[in-house]
Amino acid sequence: MTTARSDLWPSNVPAEVYPPQEDSQLLIDTATESGILAQAGVADLCTGSGVVGIAAAAAGAGSVRAFDLCPHAVQAAKSNAAVAGVDVAVHLGPWTRAAEFGPYDVILSNPPYVPDFDDEREQIPPVAGPPLSYNGGFDGRSILDPLCQTVAEFLAPGGSFFLVHSEFSGVDRSLQQLRDAELDADVVARQAIPFGPVLTARAPWLERTRLLEPGRRTEELVVIRADKS
Ligand SMILES: C[S@@+](CC[C@H](N)C(=O)[O-])C[C@H]1O[C@@H](n2cnc3c(N)ncnc32)[C@H](O)[C@@H]1O
Repeated sequence: MTTARSDLWPSNVPAEVYPPQEDSQLLIDTATESGILAQAGVADLCTGSGVVGIAAAAAGAGSVRAFDLCPHAVQAAKSNAAVAGVDVAVHLGPWTRAAEFGPYDVILSNPPYVPDFDDEREQIPPVAGPPLSYNGGFDGRSILDPLCQTVAEFLAPGGSFFLVHSEFSGVDRSLQQLRDAELDADVVARQAIPFGPVLTARAPWLERTRLLEPGRRTEELVVIRADKS
């Protein structure tokens, strides 16, 4: 199922920027199909090419702000929004900068979340995007932990947070952190996909850590929705 308009999918993403992938699409589809984007004040945390924020704007969001630590991503997101003909305010800085402009009705995020065992010999082809876009520290949670623990503070009453990540990054931990912050959190979408280049390179390590059954080369992506009352 694909709801993103093909003319909104950036065709020109520089090598320094995460090319939209299955996780981007699953997040867009889930948020769009929820029907809550129209007129909403939206934040796209870790925007990369801008694809998620652009889709939210195209779905009728009242305003969209996007944030990324990488200057190349900020430049690409601005240019992609202009090409798509939608209004997205793109800010350079960590996702925590979103606090300056909140609260938001809807927050969307596809952060770096892949467990990273810091092996210098590892060879991952550039098609995967830059390491900053996917590496999430040893357990994949260097951004997920603080994000799930604090995002409730960025949400307006009645607001919703949509987060995509891998099964290998601690789905139960995200749910628990969001619930501890008094959000009503559940997995609302799942998609099994073949390993891309990053997990293919890390599969032997994941097998050794027992996060991955020997020989399996698929992962499940999940989208978590967390609502503030
Ligand atoms: C997986 S990519 C997602 C890009 C885009 N949202 C998408 O779905 O295709 C993650 C993005 O997070 C950015 N990033 C990494 N650490 C960040 C941080 N602390 N604050 C904001 N952005 C960050 C990276 O530069 C990268 O563009």
